[in-house]
Amino acid sequence: MTYRVSIVGTGYVGLCTAVGFASKGCKVITATHDAGKAGSINRGIPPFFEPGLQELLHKVVRNGYLKCVVHCEEAVLETDITFITTATPSQPTGSIDLQHIESSAREIGEALNKKNGYHLVVVKSTVTPGTTQNIVKRTIEKHSNKLCGVDFGLCMNPEFLREGSALQDTLFPDRIIIGEHDRKSGDTLEALYQDFYGGKKPPTMKTNLPTAELIKYANNAFLATKISFINFVANICEKIPGVDVTTISKAIGMDKRIGPLFLNAGLGYGGSCLPKDVNALIAFSKSLSYDPSLLKAVGAVNNVQPQRTVSLAKKHLGKLKGKQIAILGLSFKPNTDDMRKAKSIPIIRQLLKEGASITAYDPVAIEKAKSILKDKIKYASSPTECLKDADCCIIATEWDEFKKLKPRDFKQNMRHPILIDGRRIYPPKQFSQKLEFEAIGLGQTVLETPTKKLHGN
Ligand code: UGA
Repeated sequence: MTYRVSIVGTGYVGLCTAVGFASKGCKVITATHDAGKAGSINRGIPPFFEPGLQELLHKVVRNGYLKCVVHCEEAVLETDITFITTATPSQPTGSIDLQHIESSAREIGEALNKKNGYHLVVVKSTVTPGTTQNIVKRTIEKHSNKLCGVDFGLCMNPEFLREGSALQDTLFPDRIIIGEHDRKSGDTLEALYQDFYGGKKPPTMKTNLPTAELIKYANNAFLATKISFINFVANICEKIPGVDVTTISKAIGMDKRIGPLFLNAGLGYGGSCLPKDVNALIAFSKSLSYDPSLLKAVGAVNNVQPQRTVSLAKKHLGKLKGKQIAILGLSFKPNTDDMRKAKSIPIIRQLLKEGASITAYDPVAIEKAKSILKDKIKYASSPTECLKDADCCIIATEWDEFKKLKPRDFKQNMRHPILIDGRRIYPPKQFSQKLEFEAIGLGQTVLETPTKKLHGN
Protein backbone atom coordinates (compact mmCIF):
# COMPACT_ATOMS: atom_id res chain seq x y z
CA MET A 1 0.00 0.00 0.00
CA THR A 2 1.20 3.49 -0.83
CA TYR A 3 -0.17 5.35 2.19
CA ARG A 4 1.52 5.62 5.57
CA VAL A 5 -1.00 5.63 8.40
CA SER A 6 -0.82 6.65 12.05
CA ILE A 7 -3.39 5.70 14.66
CA VAL A 8 -3.80 7.56 17.94
CA GLY A 9 -5.23 5.19 20.54
CA THR A 10 -4.55 1.48 20.93
CA GLY A 11 -7.88 0.10 22.17
CA TYR A 12 -9.92 -2.46 20.19
CA VAL A 13 -10.66 -0.12 17.33
CA GLY A 14 -7.18 1.40 17.11
CA LEU A 15 -5.17 -1.79 17.34
CA CYS A 16 -7.44 -3.91 15.13
CA THR A 17 -7.53 -1.17 12.48
CA ALA A 18 -3.75 -0.80 12.71
CA VAL A 19 -3.12 -4.53 12.39
CA GLY A 20 -5.64 -4.71 9.52
CA PHE A 21 -3.84 -1.97 7.52
CA ALA A 22 -0.40 -3.38 8.34
CA SER A 23 -1.46 -6.88 7.25
CA LYS A 24 -2.02 -5.47 3.74
CA GLY A 25 1.45 -3.95 3.58
CA CYS A 26 0.65 -0.45 4.83
CA LYS A 27 3.25 1.18 7.11
CA VAL A 28 1.44 1.89 10.37
CA ILE A 29 2.50 3.75 13.51
CA THR A 30 0.23 3.58 16.55
CA ALA A 31 0.54 6.01 19.44
CA THR A 32 -0.32 5.64 23.10
CA HIS A 33 0.90 7.49 26.22
CA ASP A 34 1.06 4.18 28.05
CA ALA A 35 4.71 3.10 27.74
CA GLY A 36 3.93 -0.38 29.09
CA LYS A 37 1.26 -0.90 26.46
CA ALA A 38 3.55 0.41 23.70
CA GLY A 39 6.31 -1.98 24.80
CA SER A 40 3.92 -4.90 24.79
CA ILE A 41 2.59 -4.03 21.30
CA ASN A 42 6.16 -3.70 20.01
CA ARG A 43 6.83 -7.22 21.28
CA GLY A 44 3.77 -8.43 19.36
CA ILE A 45 1.59 -8.90 22.45
CA PRO A 46 -1.89 -7.28 22.34
CA PRO A 47 -3.09 -5.71 25.62
CA PHE A 48 -6.43 -7.59 25.36
CA PHE A 49 -7.73 -10.91 24.07
CA GLU A 50 -9.16 -10.93 20.56
CA PRO A 51 -9.23 -14.05 18.36
CA GLY A 52 -6.44 -14.06 15.75
CA LEU A 53 -4.99 -10.71 16.88
CA GLN A 54 -1.88 -11.98 18.65
CA GLU A 55 -0.69 -14.00 15.62
CA LEU A 56 -1.28 -11.17 13.16
CA LEU A 57 0.19 -8.48 15.44
CA HIS A 58 3.28 -10.58 15.96
CA LYS A 59 3.67 -11.01 12.21
CA VAL A 60 3.28 -7.33 11.25
CA VAL A 61 5.61 -6.15 14.04
CA ARG A 62 8.24 -8.70 13.02
CA ASN A 63 7.94 -7.67 9.36
CA GLY A 64 8.35 -4.00 10.28
CA TYR A 65 4.89 -2.86 9.14
CA LEU A 66 3.69 -1.79 12.57
CA LYS A 67 5.31 -0.03 15.48
CA CYS A 68 3.93 1.72 18.54
CA VAL A 69 5.30 5.02 19.87
CA VAL A 70 4.57 7.11 22.96
CA HIS A 71 4.71 10.48 21.21
CA CYS A 72 1.85 11.37 18.90
CA GLU A 73 4.13 13.84 17.10
CA GLU A 74 6.44 11.11 15.81
CA ALA A 75 3.45 9.17 14.48
CA VAL A 76 1.98 12.18 12.69
CA LEU A 77 5.22 13.47 11.18
CA GLU A 78 6.11 10.13 9.65
CA THR A 79 2.70 9.45 8.05
CA ASP A 80 0.12 10.89 5.62
CA ILE A 81 -3.15 10.02 7.36
CA THR A 82 -3.90 10.00 11.11
CA PHE A 83 -6.87 8.19 12.64
CA ILE A 84 -8.16 9.21 16.07
CA THR A 85 -9.46 6.14 17.91
CA THR A 86 -9.22 7.32 21.51
CA ALA A 87 -11.94 6.41 24.01
CA THR A 88 -15.09 8.44 24.55
CA PRO A 89 -16.27 7.13 27.94
CA SER A 90 -19.53 8.06 29.67
CA GLN A 91 -19.74 10.89 32.16
CA PRO A 92 -21.96 10.34 35.25
CA THR A 93 -24.77 12.13 33.35
CA GLY A 94 -24.52 9.64 30.46
CA SER A 95 -23.16 12.18 28.01
CA ILE A 96 -19.75 11.46 26.49
CA ASP A 97 -16.47 12.61 27.87
CA LEU A 98 -14.49 14.23 25.06
CA GLN A 99 -11.25 14.93 26.94
CA HIS A 100 -9.24 12.24 25.10
CA ILE A 101 -10.56 13.43 21.72
CA GLU A 102 -9.61 17.00 22.55
CA SER A 103 -6.14 16.11 23.75
CA SER A 104 -5.53 13.91 20.67
CA ALA A 105 -6.65 16.80 18.41
CA ARG A 106 -4.32 19.17 20.27
CA GLU A 107 -1.32 16.84 19.90
CA ILE A 108 -2.09 16.25 16.21
CA GLY A 109 -2.41 20.03 15.70
CA GLU A 110 0.95 20.66 17.41
CA ALA A 111 2.58 18.02 15.19
CA LEU A 112 0.98 19.42 12.02
CA ASN A 113 2.41 22.80 12.95
CA LYS A 114 5.84 21.26 12.29
CA LYS A 115 4.83 19.44 9.12
CA ASN A 116 4.84 20.56 5.51
CA GLY A 117 2.36 19.18 3.02
CA TYR A 118 -1.20 17.93 3.15
CA HIS A 119 -2.26 15.59 5.97
CA LEU A 120 -5.63 13.92 6.52
CA VAL A 121 -7.09 13.52 10.01
CA VAL A 122 -9.87 10.94 10.46
CA VAL A 123 -12.05 10.65 13.55
CA LYS A 124 -12.95 7.00 14.11
CA SER A 125 -13.97 7.27 17.77
CA THR A 126 -17.70 7.38 18.44
CA VAL A 127 -18.56 11.06 18.96
CA THR A 128 -21.84 12.95 19.12
CA PRO A 129 -22.89 15.08 16.13
CA GLY A 130 -20.97 18.34 15.95
CA THR A 131 -17.82 17.07 17.69
CA THR A 132 -15.63 16.67 14.60
CA GLN A 133 -16.57 20.10 13.23
CA ASN A 134 -16.69 22.04 16.48
CA ILE A 135 -14.02 20.43 18.62
CA VAL A 136 -11.60 18.43 16.47
CA LYS A 137 -11.40 20.89 13.58
CA ARG A 138 -11.12 23.98 15.79
CA THR A 139 -8.53 22.41 18.10
CA ILE A 140 -6.33 21.25 15.22
CA GLU A 141 -6.58 24.60 13.46
CA LYS A 142 -5.70 26.44 16.67
CA HIS A 143 -2.60 24.36 17.43
CA SER A 144 -1.36 23.89 13.86
CA ASN A 145 -1.98 27.40 12.60
CA LYS A 146 -3.33 25.73 9.46
CA LEU A 147 -6.66 25.76 7.71
CA CYS A 148 -8.93 22.74 7.51
CA GLY A 149 -9.90 21.94 3.93
CA VAL A 150 -6.77 23.64 2.63
CA ASP A 151 -3.68 22.56 4.59
CA PHE A 152 -5.16 19.49 6.14
CA GLY A 153 -8.22 17.34 5.54
CA LEU A 154 -10.79 16.05 8.00
CA CYS A 155 -13.17 13.07 7.92
CA MET A 156 -15.43 11.24 10.35
CA ASN A 157 -15.33 7.54 9.63
CA PRO A 158 -17.34 5.47 12.14
CA GLU A 159 -16.42 1.85 12.72
CA PHE A 160 -18.77 -1.06 13.21
CA LEU A 161 -16.41 -3.79 14.40
CA ARG A 162 -17.52 -6.15 17.12
CA GLU A 163 -15.32 -7.45 19.88
CA GLY A 164 -14.70 -11.13 19.38
CA SER A 165 -14.73 -10.76 15.60
CA ALA A 166 -12.95 -7.43 15.33
CA LEU A 167 -10.34 -8.52 12.77
CA GLN A 168 -12.91 -10.18 10.56
CA ASP A 169 -15.06 -7.02 10.75
CA THR A 170 -12.04 -4.83 9.93
CA LEU A 171 -11.11 -6.90 6.89
CA PHE A 172 -14.69 -7.53 5.65
CA PRO A 173 -17.01 -4.69 6.74
CA ASP A 174 -20.61 -4.46 5.45
CA ARG A 175 -20.03 -0.86 4.35
CA ILE A 176 -17.79 2.16 4.75
CA ILE A 177 -19.19 5.48 5.90
CA ILE A 178 -17.12 8.55 5.14
CA GLY A 179 -18.26 11.82 6.63
CA GLU A 180 -16.22 14.47 4.79
CA HIS A 181 -15.40 18.04 5.72
CA ASP A 182 -14.70 18.76 2.04
CA ARG A 183 -14.41 16.80 -1.19
CA LYS A 184 -10.64 16.32 -1.13
CA SER A 185 -10.74 14.92 2.43
CA GLY A 186 -13.38 12.33 1.50
CA ASP A 187 -11.64 11.39 -1.75
CA THR A 188 -8.31 10.90 0.04
CA LEU A 189 -9.86 8.55 2.59
CA GLU A 190 -11.77 6.66 -0.09
CA ALA A 191 -8.52 6.22 -2.05
CA LEU A 192 -6.89 4.71 1.06
CA TYR A 193 -9.75 2.20 1.36
CA GLN A 194 -9.62 1.49 -2.38
CA ASP A 195 -5.96 0.65 -1.97
CA PHE A 196 -6.74 -1.48 1.09
CA TYR A 197 -9.69 -3.49 -0.25
CA GLY A 198 -8.85 -3.45 -3.98
CA GLY A 199 -11.67 -4.92 -6.07
CA LYS A 200 -13.49 -5.99 -2.89
CA LYS A 201 -14.08 -2.51 -1.49
CA PRO A 202 -17.39 -2.60 0.38
CA PRO A 203 -20.23 -0.21 -0.57
CA THR A 204 -19.11 3.26 0.45
CA MET A 205 -21.36 6.13 1.44
CA LYS A 206 -20.18 9.70 1.67
CA THR A 207 -21.99 12.14 3.94
CA ASN A 208 -21.30 15.33 5.83
CA LEU A 209 -19.59 15.14 9.23
CA PRO A 210 -22.59 15.22 11.63
CA THR A 211 -24.50 12.65 9.54
CA ALA A 212 -21.60 10.19 9.82
CA GLU A 213 -21.43 10.83 13.56
CA LEU A 214 -25.15 10.15 14.00
CA ILE A 215 -25.07 7.04 11.77
CA LYS A 216 -22.83 5.35 14.35
CA TYR A 217 -25.19 6.16 17.25
CA ALA A 218 -28.27 5.21 15.25
CA ASN A 219 -26.63 1.89 14.37
CA ASN A 220 -25.78 0.93 17.95
CA ALA A 221 -29.05 2.30 19.34
CA PHE A 222 -31.00 0.22 16.82
CA LEU A 223 -29.09 -2.95 17.78
CA ALA A 224 -29.77 -2.22 21.46
CA THR A 225 -33.44 -1.62 20.67
CA LYS A 226 -33.68 -4.95 18.85
CA ILE A 227 -32.18 -6.74 21.87
CA SER A 228 -34.43 -5.01 24.41
CA PHE A 229 -37.43 -5.61 22.17
CA ILE A 230 -36.83 -9.36 22.06
CA ASN A 231 -36.17 -9.39 25.81
CA PHE A 232 -39.51 -7.64 26.33
CA VAL A 233 -41.15 -10.39 24.25
CA ALA A 234 -39.15 -13.01 26.22
CA ASN A 235 -40.51 -11.68 29.49
CA ILE A 236 -44.06 -12.06 28.16
CA CYS A 237 -43.26 -15.59 26.93
CA GLU A 238 -42.22 -16.61 30.43
CA LYS A 239 -45.77 -15.95 31.58
CA ILE A 240 -47.41 -18.13 28.90
CA PRO A 241 -46.92 -21.88 29.41
CA GLY A 242 -45.54 -23.61 26.31
CA VAL A 243 -44.36 -20.44 24.55
CA ASP A 244 -40.66 -20.08 23.78
CA VAL A 245 -39.06 -16.81 22.65
CA THR A 246 -36.51 -18.63 20.45
CA THR A 247 -39.38 -19.82 18.22
CA ILE A 248 -40.73 -16.27 18.07
CA SER A 249 -37.26 -14.88 17.16
CA LYS A 250 -36.91 -17.45 14.40
CA ALA A 251 -40.33 -16.67 13.01
CA ILE A 252 -40.10 -12.89 13.04
CA GLY A 253 -36.47 -13.05 11.85
CA MET A 254 -37.71 -14.70 8.64
CA ASP A 255 -39.48 -11.47 7.78
CA LYS A 256 -36.94 -9.72 5.53
CA ARG A 257 -37.96 -6.39 7.01
CA ILE A 258 -36.86 -7.57 10.47
CA GLY A 259 -33.96 -9.99 9.80
CA PRO A 260 -32.71 -12.78 12.06
CA LEU A 261 -29.72 -11.14 13.79
CA PHE A 262 -29.67 -9.51 17.23
CA LEU A 263 -32.86 -11.28 18.24
CA ASN A 264 -31.24 -13.52 20.86
CA ALA A 265 -33.11 -13.02 24.10
CA GLY A 266 -31.14 -13.31 27.32
CA LEU A 267 -29.45 -11.15 29.91
CA GLY A 268 -29.36 -8.07 27.69
CA TYR A 269 -26.56 -6.07 26.14
CA GLY A 270 -23.30 -5.32 27.93
CA GLY A 271 -19.86 -4.26 26.76
CA SER A 272 -18.17 -0.94 26.25
CA CYS A 273 -20.32 0.27 23.36
CA LEU A 274 -24.06 -0.39 23.32
CA PRO A 275 -24.78 0.73 26.93
CA LYS A 276 -22.51 3.79 26.59
CA ASP A 277 -23.87 4.80 23.19
CA VAL A 278 -27.52 4.43 24.20
CA ASN A 279 -26.85 6.66 27.23
CA ALA A 280 -24.95 9.18 25.12
CA LEU A 281 -27.77 9.38 22.59
CA ILE A 282 -30.29 9.83 25.42
CA ALA A 283 -28.20 12.71 26.81
CA PHE A 284 -27.66 14.20 23.35
CA SER A 285 -31.36 13.99 22.56
CA LYS A 286 -32.17 15.76 25.84
CA SER A 287 -29.65 18.47 24.97
CA LEU A 288 -31.76 19.11 21.86
CA SER A 289 -34.92 19.26 24.03
CA TYR A 290 -36.23 16.07 22.45
CA ASP A 291 -37.59 13.50 24.90
CA PRO A 292 -35.66 10.21 24.35
CA SER A 293 -38.57 8.08 25.64
CA LEU A 294 -37.88 5.15 23.28
CA LEU A 295 -34.23 4.78 24.28
CA LYS A 296 -35.03 5.27 27.96
CA ALA A 297 -37.32 2.23 27.72
CA VAL A 298 -34.62 0.27 25.86
CA GLY A 299 -32.19 1.00 28.71
CA ALA A 300 -34.77 0.19 31.39
CA VAL A 301 -35.54 -3.27 29.92
CA ASN A 302 -31.81 -3.92 29.67
CA ASN A 303 -31.09 -2.96 33.26
CA VAL A 304 -33.62 -5.31 34.85
CA GLN A 305 -32.92 -8.30 32.59
CA PRO A 306 -30.08 -9.86 34.65
CA GLN A 307 -32.27 -9.85 37.76
CA ARG A 308 -34.64 -12.29 36.06
CA THR A 309 -32.10 -15.08 36.43
CA VAL A 310 -31.94 -14.36 40.17
CA SER A 311 -35.76 -14.57 40.36
CA LEU A 312 -35.67 -17.87 38.47
CA ALA A 313 -33.06 -19.21 40.91
CA LYS A 314 -35.29 -18.18 43.83
CA LYS A 315 -38.30 -19.84 42.24
CA HIS A 316 -36.48 -23.16 42.70
CA LEU A 317 -34.32 -22.56 45.74
CA GLY A 318 -36.45 -20.25 47.85
CA LYS A 319 -34.04 -18.19 49.93
CA LEU A 320 -30.54 -17.96 48.50
CA LYS A 321 -28.72 -17.63 51.82
CA GLY A 322 -26.14 -20.39 52.14
CA LYS A 323 -26.76 -21.71 48.63
CA GLN A 324 -23.87 -22.50 46.33
CA ILE A 325 -24.32 -21.01 42.84
CA ALA A 326 -22.18 -21.78 39.79
CA ILE A 327 -21.81 -19.02 37.19
CA LEU A 328 -20.65 -20.17 33.77
CA GLY A 329 -19.35 -17.21 31.79
CA LEU A 330 -18.10 -13.83 33.03
CA SER A 331 -17.21 -11.75 29.95
CA PHE A 332 -19.87 -9.52 28.37
CA LYS A 333 -20.00 -11.86 25.37
CA PRO A 334 -18.03 -14.85 24.06
CA ASN A 335 -14.56 -14.64 22.46
CA THR A 336 -13.44 -11.70 24.55
CA ASP A 337 -12.03 -11.16 28.03
CA ASP A 338 -13.79 -7.79 28.24
CA MET A 339 -15.71 -7.41 31.50
CA ARG A 340 -17.02 -3.89 30.89
CA LYS A 341 -20.76 -3.81 31.74
CA ALA A 342 -20.76 -7.63 31.68
CA LYS A 343 -24.15 -8.96 32.79
CA SER A 344 -22.45 -11.50 35.04
CA ILE A 345 -21.54 -8.64 37.40
CA PRO A 346 -25.03 -7.47 38.49
CA ILE A 347 -26.15 -11.11 38.76
CA ILE A 348 -23.22 -12.02 41.01
CA ARG A 349 -23.65 -8.86 43.13
CA GLN A 350 -27.33 -9.61 43.69
CA LEU A 351 -26.69 -13.26 44.56
CA LEU A 352 -23.96 -12.24 47.04
CA LYS A 353 -26.31 -9.65 48.56
CA GLU A 354 -28.85 -12.38 49.16
CA GLY A 355 -26.26 -14.54 50.92
CA ALA A 356 -25.31 -17.07 48.22
CA SER A 357 -21.75 -18.34 47.69
CA ILE A 358 -20.48 -18.15 44.12
CA THR A 359 -17.99 -20.09 42.06
CA ALA A 360 -17.45 -18.82 38.53
CA TYR A 361 -15.68 -20.04 35.44
CA ASP A 362 -14.81 -18.29 32.18
CA PRO A 363 -12.40 -19.49 29.49
CA VAL A 364 -10.47 -16.18 29.29
CA ALA A 365 -11.99 -13.44 31.48
CA ILE A 366 -11.07 -14.65 34.99
CA GLU A 367 -8.06 -12.35 35.40
CA LYS A 368 -10.07 -9.26 34.42
CA ALA A 369 -13.03 -10.43 36.56
CA LYS A 370 -10.73 -10.72 39.59
CA SER A 371 -9.93 -7.02 39.39
CA ILE A 372 -13.67 -6.27 39.72
CA LEU A 373 -15.06 -9.03 41.92
CA LYS A 374 -11.84 -9.62 43.93
CA ASP A 375 -12.06 -12.54 46.36
CA LYS A 376 -15.80 -12.15 46.94
CA ILE A 377 -16.30 -15.22 44.77
CA LYS A 378 -14.31 -18.37 43.98
CA TYR A 379 -12.86 -18.95 40.52
CA ALA A 380 -12.82 -22.41 38.95
CA SER A 381 -10.46 -23.66 36.27
CA SER A 382 -13.03 -25.72 34.36
CA PRO A 383 -16.82 -25.92 33.97
CA THR A 384 -16.87 -29.22 35.87
CA GLU A 385 -14.96 -27.75 38.82
CA CYS A 386 -17.35 -24.78 38.78
CA LEU A 387 -20.42 -27.05 38.94
CA LYS A 388 -19.07 -29.19 41.81
CA ASP A 389 -21.64 -29.35 44.63
CA ALA A 390 -23.59 -26.35 43.31
CA ASP A 391 -27.28 -25.90 44.13
CA CYS A 392 -27.93 -23.99 40.91
CA CYS A 393 -26.04 -22.99 37.77
CA ILE A 394 -26.58 -19.81 35.74
CA ILE A 395 -25.28 -19.49 32.17
CA ALA A 396 -24.17 -15.85 31.85
CA THR A 397 -22.11 -15.96 28.62
CA GLU A 398 -22.71 -18.18 25.60
CA TRP A 399 -19.19 -19.60 25.16
CA ASP A 400 -19.00 -22.57 22.74
CA GLU A 401 -17.34 -24.57 25.51
CA PHE A 402 -20.60 -24.47 27.52
CA LYS A 403 -22.74 -25.46 24.54
CA LYS A 404 -21.00 -28.83 24.57
CA LEU A 405 -22.11 -29.63 28.14
CA LYS A 406 -24.74 -32.37 28.44
CA PRO A 407 -27.45 -32.77 31.10
CA ARG A 408 -25.34 -35.50 32.73
CA ASP A 409 -22.45 -33.02 33.28
CA PHE A 410 -24.76 -30.92 35.45
CA LYS A 411 -26.38 -33.95 37.10
CA GLN A 412 -23.16 -35.71 38.00
CA ASN A 413 -21.41 -32.67 39.45
CA MET A 414 -24.06 -30.51 41.09
CA ARG A 415 -25.68 -31.09 44.47
CA HIS A 416 -29.02 -30.02 43.01
CA PRO A 417 -29.13 -29.97 39.22
CA ILE A 418 -31.00 -26.70 38.68
CA LEU A 419 -29.91 -25.00 35.48
CA ILE A 420 -30.84 -21.46 34.43
CA ASP A 421 -30.01 -20.75 30.82
CA GLY A 422 -29.54 -16.98 30.67
CA ARG A 423 -28.28 -17.09 27.07
CA ARG A 424 -30.53 -19.71 25.50
CA ILE A 425 -27.84 -22.19 24.49
CA TYR A 426 -29.53 -25.46 25.47
CA PRO A 427 -32.50 -27.25 23.85
CA PRO A 428 -35.26 -27.00 26.49
CA LYS A 429 -36.90 -30.35 25.73
CA GLN A 430 -33.74 -32.38 26.15
CA PHE A 431 -32.61 -30.53 29.25
CA SER A 432 -35.92 -30.20 31.06
CA GLN A 433 -36.44 -33.97 30.93
CA LYS A 434 -33.24 -34.55 32.86
CA LEU A 435 -32.82 -31.45 35.05
CA GLU A 436 -34.75 -28.68 36.71
CA PHE A 437 -34.38 -26.33 33.77
CA GLU A 438 -35.30 -22.67 33.39
CA ALA A 439 -34.46 -20.28 30.58
CA ILE A 440 -35.03 -16.61 29.77
CA GLY A 441 -38.11 -16.40 27.56
CA LEU A 442 -39.27 -19.96 28.14
CA GLY A 443 -42.85 -20.21 29.34
CA GLN A 444 -43.17 -23.15 31.70
CA THR A 445 -45.94 -24.48 33.87
CA VAL A 446 -45.68 -23.08 37.40
CA LEU A 447 -44.01 -25.53 39.78
CA GLU A 448 -46.76 -27.22 41.74
CA THR A 449 -44.44 -28.43 44.48
CA PRO A 450 -41.86 -25.69 44.81
CA THR A 451 -38.46 -27.32 44.89
CA LYS A 452 -37.56 -24.98 47.72
CA LYS A 453 -39.63 -27.23 49.99
CA LEU A 454 -37.57 -30.21 48.84
CA HIS A 455 -34.47 -28.26 49.74
CA GLY A 456 -35.62 -27.60 53.25
CA ASN A 457 -36.31 -23.82 53.12
C1 UGA B 1 -21.14 -3.29 19.15
C2 UGA B 1 -21.70 -3.28 17.72
O1 UGA B 1 -22.26 -4.54 17.42
C3 UGA B 1 -20.58 -2.96 16.70
O2 UGA B 1 -21.13 -2.87 15.39
C4 UGA B 1 -19.93 -1.62 17.08
O3 UGA B 1 -18.85 -1.31 16.22
C5 UGA B 1 -19.38 -1.72 18.49
O4 UGA B 1 -20.48 -2.04 19.39
C6 UGA B 1 -18.79 -0.38 18.85
O5 UGA B 1 -19.53 0.59 18.96
O6 UGA B 1 -17.56 -0.29 18.92
P1 UGA B 1 -19.82 -5.10 20.62
O7 UGA B 1 -20.04 -4.18 21.78
O8 UGA B 1 -18.47 -5.66 20.41
O9 UGA B 1 -20.21 -4.36 19.23
O10 UGA B 1 -20.79 -6.33 20.81
P2 UGA B 1 -22.16 -6.87 20.19
O11 UGA B 1 -21.88 -8.06 19.38
O12 UGA B 1 -22.93 -5.78 19.57
O13 UGA B 1 -22.90 -7.33 21.52
C7 UGA B 1 -23.26 -6.38 22.54
C8 UGA B 1 -24.04 -7.05 23.63
O14 UGA B 1 -25.33 -7.44 23.15
C9 UGA B 1 -23.41 -8.33 24.21
O15 UGA B 1 -23.52 -8.29 25.62
C10 UGA B 1 -24.26 -9.45 23.64
O16 UGA B 1 -24.32 -10.56 24.50
C11 UGA B 1 -25.62 -8.77 23.53
N1 UGA B 1 -26.50 -9.38 22.52
C12 UGA B 1 -26.18 -9.34 21.20
C13 UGA B 1 -27.70 -9.95 22.93
O17 UGA B 1 -28.03 -9.98 24.13
N2 UGA B 1 -28.53 -10.49 21.97
C14 UGA B 1 -28.23 -10.47 20.65
O18 UGA B 1 -29.05 -10.97 19.84
C15 UGA B 1 -27.01 -9.89 20.26
